[in-house]
Amino acid sequence: MAKANVKPATGKLGIMVVGLGAVSTTFMTGVMMARKGLAKPVGSMTQYDKIRIGKGENKKYLHYKDIVSMPTLDDIVFAAWDVYPANAYESAINAEVLKEKDIEPVKDELLKIKPLKAAFDKNYAKRLDGDNVKQCKDRWDMTEQVREDIRNFKKETGVDRVVVLWAASTEIYVEPDMQYHDTIAHLEQAMKDNVVDKIAPSMCYAYAALKEDCPFIMGAPNTTVDIPAMWELSEQTKVPIAGKDFKTGQTLVKSGFAPIIGTRMLGLNGWFSTNILGNRDGLVLDEPANFRTKEVSKLSTLESILVADEQPDLYSNYYHKVRINYYPPRNDNKEGWDNIDIFGWMGYPMQIKINFLCRDSILAAPLCLDLCLLMDLAHRAGRYGTQRFLSFFLKSPMHDYTQNEIPVNHLFQQYVMLKNAIREMGGYEADEEID
Ligand SMILES: NC(=O)c1ccc[n+]([C@@H]2O[C@H](COP(=O)([O-])OP(=O)(O)OC[C@H]3O[C@@H](n4cnc5c(N)ncnc54)[C@H](O)[C@@H]3O)[C@@H](O)[C@H]2O)c1
Repeated sequence: MAKANVKPATGKLGIMVVGLGAVSTTFMTGVMMARKGLAKPVGSMTQYDKIRIGKGENKKYLHYKDIVSMPTLDDIVFAAWDVYPANAYESAINAEVLKEKDIEPVKDELLKIKPLKAAFDKNYAKRLDGDNVKQCKDRWDMTEQVREDIRNFKKETGVDRVVVLWAASTEIYVEPDMQYHDTIAHLEQAMKDNVVDKIAPSMCYAYAALKEDCPFIMGAPNTTVDIPAMWELSEQTKVPIAGKDFKTGQTLVKSGFAPIIGTRMLGLNGWFSTNILGNRDGLVLDEPANFRTKEVSKLSTLESILVADEQPDLYSNYYHKVRINYYPPRNDNKEGWDNIDIFGWMGYPMQIKINFLCRDSILAAPLCLDLCLLMDLAHRAGRYGTQRFLSFFLKSPMHDYTQNEIPVNHLFQQYVMLKNAIREMGGYEADEEID
């Protein structure tokens, strides 16, 4: 066994989730059902994947937990915030993602998860009107109240460590503004001056988490921790951040499929992606300002995989469009269509159609688990700043755009980054050998 570079995962791990909707309740219910041996955590890398360690004759394939110290599912304790007062059981039933038979066996545990009052501002999600909301003097007070929630949760449950995961609605787009978002000092001042259109509630959660020594994960496309002030705070507090936007359905397909076109040196004229979905997420995204946040996130995927500068003949002029349509009858069962106009030898056009009939929260739940466990791992390993090795799970991986750093969107390159980070934290050498 190599010498690991991480503190052991002793005691309990608290997972505080912002938002107690479809994704979070599917995540929590799945973890609870798996602990009882009544369901399998399918899709979770931390529970299933094996990484090759060593080369040649010495190579072996190990689960993550056999390479680095990881918490078990039994170690997890949940809490949540939400704008609506429904507990996790009611919310799981309302979400209509899981069948009752898959919820009832853990009903008692779910009933106990009652959402803390949300740090919320209706201007950031106009379609939500719940009243389980904190009364805040200003944004600074909002962060103080969230910090108190985290401290209380630690005290009441005795958890050893806490990770904060944003699985709440997508907020309206907040363009990074270097007057407010460039340094910690400016960010704090803007919170104290209550500059409400620059300080999203999600920033108050993130700020509070980092100050309370809790890694923060942004599962929606919000720009929350994707600003220099939060990068600085993450460095200063030595607490890792990750984001943004869970890579679940269409973008997962895109980041796995685009490499087929790119590695075969085929050309691209256009890629049109459209979706229908009818859950509350879809309802919020029906608002143009909220959709804008999602669109920016979804559009970023292709450009770093099929790069015009590298292959001008093939990729200099493609049209990339993404649409999301709110369509209630489908609820959480999203349907995505991709129409891909490619061209081949001598420029002859061809088309590829992909029709993915997926389940949004079923795809997102294992990502929640993996991101929480791996962020806790990163923290124990003394890592901080943006955790790029988690790009594998994210639609719009954070990167230092002020330095023109290019994000890695290519699914298989992201997988190499993930494996190598685990290897390194386990005290093994990173490598790029083909498994
Ligand atoms: N499911 C997927 O495939 C997927 C993929 C990528 C990203 N996401 C993102 O994950 C998030 C959750 O999706 P969902 O389907 O569970 O949505 P949902 O609408 O079912 O749940 C979100 C919950 O967040 C709550 N909320 C909103 N603002 C809040 C705040 N400031 N504080 C506390 N709670 C707040 C809402 O009341 C709601 O109950 C969305 O932002 C979505 O865009 C989902």
